[in-house]
Formats: sequence, C-alpha cells, structure tokens
Amino acid sequence: MEATYLDTTKDIYKRAAETPEVGLCCTTTPIWAFPGLDIPRIMQEMNYGCGSTVHPRDLINNPKILYVGVGGGMELLQFSYFSRQTEGVIGVDVVDEMLEACKRNFKEAEAANEWFRSDFVSLRKGDALNLPVEDSSIDVAAQNCLFNIFKEEDLKKALQEMFRVLKPHGRLVLSDPVSEDEMPEKLKNDPELRGLCLSGALPLKQYIDMITEVGFGTVEIRAKRPYRILDTKHYDTDQPIHVESVEVCAIKDPMPADGPCVFTGKTAIYTGGKEYFDDHAGHVLLYNQPLSVCDKTAGNLEALNNEDIYVSESTYFYDGGGCC
Ligand SMILES: C[S@@+](CC[C@H](N)C(=O)[O-])C[C@H]1O[C@@H](n2cnc3c(N)ncnc32)[C@H](O)[C@@H]1O
Repeated sequence: MEATYLDTTKDIYKRAAETPEVGLCCTTTPIWAFPGLDIPRIMQEMNYGCGSTVHPRDLINNPKILYVGVGGGMELLQFSYFSRQTEGVIGVDVVDEMLEACKRNFKEAEAANEWFRSDFVSLRKGDALNLPVEDSSIDVAAQNCLFNIFKEEDLKKALQEMFRVLKPHGRLVLSDPVSEDEMPEKLKNDPELRGLCLSGALPLKQYIDMITEVGFGTVEIRAKRPYRILDTKHYDTDQPIHVESVEVCAIKDPMPADGPCVFTGKTAIYTGGKEYFDDHAGHVLLYNQPLSVCDKTAGNLEALNNEDIYVSESTYFYDGGGCC
C-alpha cells in the first residue's frame, strides 16, 4: 500500500524522538516556568510545539486533562504541575518511539522536581483520529502543533474526537500555525512539509469555522504571533507565505441559536450621556468601561451606527470575561 502523509508524519516524529531536533517546530512563547517547576533540558530540546496550551485559569477544580501528540512531554509535565494526581493527565501519541522518549524524559523530570511522579500521566498509544478515551470524560483537552498537519477530512475527525471525549463545558486548547496567504497546492500536498507543520496552515477563519462546525459554541483566540515565512529562495513558491501561530480555546458550550460566540479580542465602550447602554440582548455597557465582546455582538453593536459606542478591532489577545 502507498504511504500516506500520515505515515510520513509518523516517520518524521519517530526520527525526532530518536534524535531530538531543536527548532523542529519551535515555540514562539517563552517556556512556562512556575515556582518549583524545573523543565529538564531534553524536554526543552524536544519542544515541538508552536505556542503554549497550558493556561493556569483553565486548570482550576482538578480537571481531568487529555493531551494529544505528546512530543518530549514538556506540556504534560506543566499540566501535571497543576493536576498532581495519579493519572490526572492522559497523554496520547501514535508513535511508539515518542511515547518511549516521553517516558524516559519523565524520569529526568522526577529527578529534577520532588513533587512530580511519572504516574501523574497515563501514557497511551493511540491516534488523534480515534482516541482511546471514553466519551464525556475530559475537562481540558489539548493539542499543540499536531492538528495543522491533518488534511481537512482528518482535521474534522480529530476535532470531532476531541468534542466526543470532552464533558459539557469542557475546553479544547489548541496551538497551531495558520496563514492568510494562499498556500500553493504543491506545498499543501508535500507530505514532508505538512508533517513538519509548515504547509497545512489554514486561514484563521477557516480554522475557527472547522472548530465551530463540530459543535463548540464558544471560541477564544488567546494569542496570534508571527511564526515562519516560506520564502521564495527556500520553498517552491512565487510569493512568500507568512505563517502565524495561534493559541485558541474552544469551549463545549451549547451552540447559541444565532451562531457561535467567537472572541477575537474586540472591546466595546459606551461614551454617551447616560449611565449605561443596554442592547436588550444581554449586554450592558457602563459609561466608559471596557466590555469584551464576541465578534457577533461587536457586529450587532456596530450595525446600530451609534456614535456613542466604540468597537475596537480584534487584538487576537482575549483572556476571558465579557459578553455571552
Ligand atoms: C509537532 S509534534 C508536537 C509535540 C508536542 N505537542 C509539543 O508541543 O512539543 C506532533 C506530535 O504528534 C504526534 N503524532 C503524529 N501523528 C499523530 C496522530 N495521528 N495521532 C496522535 N499523535 C500523533 C507525534 O509523534 C508528535 O509527538
């Protein structure tokens, strides 16, 4: 049978497990460091993510955590820092060598962190497209720089799987490359470039639409940063392709009748002559106080053409609070 891009991806990460490749994906965020958390060097060298999926405010009330695509185990260790219970975190990966490397790295993490035990993480062999996890059993599910590799049909399956295993109101935290530039078909279909997280990047809107189409009623864009450039000298493209990395949280809230609430960092401020402005749709703007609004509400407020209501541009930096 002919090898598929998914097989090529497994080969890439088998190699990356056997010989750590610094900068293979390379996060653009600083490594989270918390008091008493020491991340072994090998985990840092095997940091194959493109952002962070560890957000302390997701991790209150002892959540059951799932992490798909374990890499060197750095984010599993970071999640364990908050969870600190036997099998509080489940780590799933399809590549045996990566699971073995991760297990070895946990031994180093145990030596460096007196609070950590390897059995805080249940490592499981499994595929993101068919998770070995029960329905509605997870509070926080995360993946970092894996889903962008998947072609659309597979991405849909991977998102559906995350939706299936999350409890109601559970959170899916994602970090992936996106791109607003048109990706040439030959790059999109290059299995090596896809596997290296360089050419599967979708435009942000399409990425978000795919997330909401599987049923997530609320989506937060937490960060968006420049990530890579596929330039004309090194890649088979006539135009440079700018790739950014995004951090997104999708919440398994019921889908509102008028469509999902997507927060891209817009804020509304009322500067009229009254104490407040009430849109009678659940949003009260106090005089000169910022209110984070989802894009749907932002659009509705703008449509009022009220000169006393200011609506900001998207900052792509939304960290909670506000309407809906
Ligand atoms: C780009 S690396 C990211 C690793 C880790 N999330 C990090 O941030 O360092 C992709 C990871 O997904 C794993 N992987 C590849 N294909 C997979 C699949 N179909 N199902 C589950 N894991 C997969 C690889 O073995 C690797 O650990």
